Amino acid sequence: MNAQTGGRPLAVLLLAAGKGTRLGLGDAAPPKVMLECLGVPLIEHVRRALEPLGATRSVVVTGHAAEQVEAWAEKAWPDAITTRQIPQNGTGQAVRIALEAIPDFEGDVLVVYGDVPQLRTDDLQRLLDGRHGEDALAGVLTGEIEDPGWLGRIVRTPSGAFERIVEARDATDNELAIREFNTGIYVFDAAALRTAVVDLPTDNDQGEEYATDAVGRIASVAGVLANDPLALMGVNDFVELADATRALRTRVLEAHMRAGVHIVDPESTFIEVDVEIAPTARVLPFTHIGKGCRIGAGAEVGPFARLRGNTVLEDGAVLGNFVEAKNAHVGKGAKAKHLTYLGDAEVGPKANVGCGVVTANYDGKRKHKTVIGPEASIGSGTILVAPVEVGPGAVTGANAVIRAGHDVPPGTTAVGVPARVLPKQDGEAQEERSSEPA
Ligand code: UD1
Ligand code: CA
Repeated sequence: MNAQTGGRPLAVLLLAAGKGTRLGLGDAAPPKVMLECLGVPLIEHVRRALEPLGATRSVVVTGHAAEQVEAWAEKAWPDAITTRQIPQNGTGQAVRIALEAIPDFEGDVLVVYGDVPQLRTDDLQRLLDGRHGEDALAGVLTGEIEDPGWLGRIVRTPSGAFERIVEARDATDNELAIREFNTGIYVFDAAALRTAVVDLPTDNDQGEEYATDAVGRIASVAGVLANDPLALMGVNDFVELADATRALRTRVLEAHMRAGVHIVDPESTFIEVDVEIAPTARVLPFTHIGKGCRIGAGAEVGPFARLRGNTVLEDGAVLGNFVEAKNAHVGKGAKAKHLTYLGDAEVGPKANVGCGVVTANYDGKRKHKTVIGPEASIGSGTILVAPVEVGPGAVTGANAVIRAGHDVPPGTTAVGVPARVLPKQDGEAQEERSSEPA
């Protein structure tokens, strides 16, 4: 049970069977809902908007490239039921098939599409509340824009009550002039919906069963206007994917900035979802930070840096220009300021990684780890062939090639190609050092 739906249990039906014909990718392509947006598929953004509603049942309707959507659901949404709609014969049929997967469910049923990544929880909440407020058996989430194009229009009575949805292709000129459109997001009383999806007509342009016809059969329907109609536009082609990505990116950047992160130039900064950045950290222009990265207080990234795959920067760590890090853990106050690749690497606190250092983490078959100890100093141009470890306080000379398995012992200096460890002698380590710590 949850308070958000007037105490009634909630089920969500997520329609994701469509191919995405307008992407122009052909039959072998991944389904539209699996296109990536800020590090996760489009459909994952929808799942995240649904999550706070606390639905007791969730059904995902798959169809085109069903296996790929099912594989995503299994990992990201293990509580959801997936059901296939093959072939896809319309949104009404999809709703009916989804309902058949939860035959005993009673309560409210929310219907959403998988290709609406900008969907917000508060618009869904408005729909649930608005429909309960009007005591209607169904609610339609609507938007208002200058020209809704090919979208279905909302026809209202002179007193402003919801009357019906008319598809653009079936609309008169007067109806086409209506600015209020159907987002395709609905809430229904489960019992009313079950009756409404039986024997839907197919005598329309596309010969399909329309969800809009099910809405038309329900006695009382509330039309609930969303706050942000642009956020309810589905993604149908790569231009719309770019638009949606830009809008979501702005949301992510603004959330970080409001939480105290200094992002110098949001226009040129890309931060994917699930990134944690502590207040007082600085992100300089032209920087890309991938899903799952963590950046500590006072740390600095960029300009022109790329952080991938769960990279962690502890407090005060610095990754400068043209540095790429992947699955790297950079300790407190450690620095890599120029032209460096840190892949599968652990960099100890206060270590300094000079210019042009490369962790050679891949042997053509497998990835290996590089460990750089606390306060170690890696000379410019050093190649660290993993697996390898440079001990605490150790130094590598400029252009040294440290071979896999040839660890550099703590406090020693290694130079040359392939690198040899110099006998310990005072001052020597200092001479071999090649890049400045700041
Ligand atoms: C639908 C609405 C229209 C609304 C618009 C908003 C109908 C008849 N029309 O039109 O009023 O303005 O959405 O975007 O519903 N899908 C399935 N199985 C199917 C068909 C579609 O799962 O058999 C899924 C698609 O993957 C897609 C969504 O449902 O995510 C919408 O389908 P689409 O065919 O694009 O409907 P529209 O023509 O956009
Ligand atoms: Ca559509």
